[in-house]
Amino acid sequence: MNTPFRSALAAGAVLALAGATVWAVDTSKLPLPTPRKVDFAKEIYPIFVEKCISCHGPEKQKGKYRMDTKEHAMKPGSDGPFFIPGNSEKSPMVHIVAGLIEEGLMPPPSDKPGESVPLTKEQISLLRAWIDQGAVWPEGEIKMAVKELTFTADIKPLFDKSCVSCHGPAKAEGGFKADSREGVLKGGDVYGAAVKLDAAARSPLVIIVSGQDADIPQPEKHKLPAKDAELVKKWIEQGAK
Ligand code: HEC
Ligand code: HEC
Repeated sequence: MNTPFRSALAAGAVLALAGATVWAVDTSKLPLPTPRKVDFAKEIYPIFVEKCISCHGPEKQKGKYRMDTKEHAMKPGSDGPFFIPGNSEKSPMVHIVAGLIEEGLMPPPSDKPGESVPLTKEQISLLRAWIDQGAVWPEGEIKMAVKELTFTADIKPLFDKSCVSCHGPAKAEGGFKADSREGVLKGGDVYGAAVKLDAAARSPLVIIVSGQDADIPQPEKHKLPAKDAELVKKWIEQGAK
């Protein structure tokens, strides 16, 4: 542990990103840690969700790195851990998001305006404070970070595309209209209320769009892609706002 090489790494003096090149890191210009206790679920995880998880989450693991769960995020890279609890100044993750490593800035710069926005100074300060405070990542699903889903923003576009031709202003098969939140909550003639707020997974709407209803006519018209069906279920779990 105490060989000069190891301690140089631990001191954050050098970091080999992607296992290739070694760069000196000047931490003197880093924004200072936020001088108060920070809340991981409210303040840190949302940064990861907004800026990182599209490339380092369940769907893609660019650079073989995944950071949506504690287990994955804390796994060391080929050159050691990305987070050094208690020492943000020496944590490679801070160097990476602050652009202190040449060609190692995350999210990676993009030519398209607005596509890749680096962390703000404030976000880097929060991240530093969280690491200095022990980089505590609670067990289990991070609930606070879940985006609040709404009918208008998240569900209506799906239904406009797949359902409204038969369940909308022109035609309402089974008395069911999918073009408004009220219509969806009200449900249709046969099934009644399509949404069960206390049991999202057992809502007729969820059963129908996830392809589990054996009796629905034209099942292929009723089945949504798994990720959209999951979104409908999440929307109900969150109160069908
Ligand atoms: C648009 C996609 C994209 C986004 C967004 C993105 N990354 Fe990356 N990330 C990559 C790619 C590509 C690599 C691999 C780079 C390489 O190997 O040269 C990488 C590599 C990494 C690595 C290094 C893995 C290793 O073993 O060397 C870390 C750590 C990392 N990213 C953290 C982050 C963080 C933190 C964020 C958010 C602040 C982020 N990334 C956002 C694409 C992305
Ligand atoms: C091609 C036309 C068509 C499309 C597209 C369609 N449906 Fe239907 N849907 C029907 C028909 C026909 C019925 C059965 C009506 C009946 O029983 O009289 C039905 C029944 C239903 C019911 C039960 C209503 C009741 O009677 O209580 C729900 C809920 C429903 N559909 C939701 C959806 C959703 C959500 C979508 C989009 C993912 C969708 N449907 C797409 C034709 C369609």
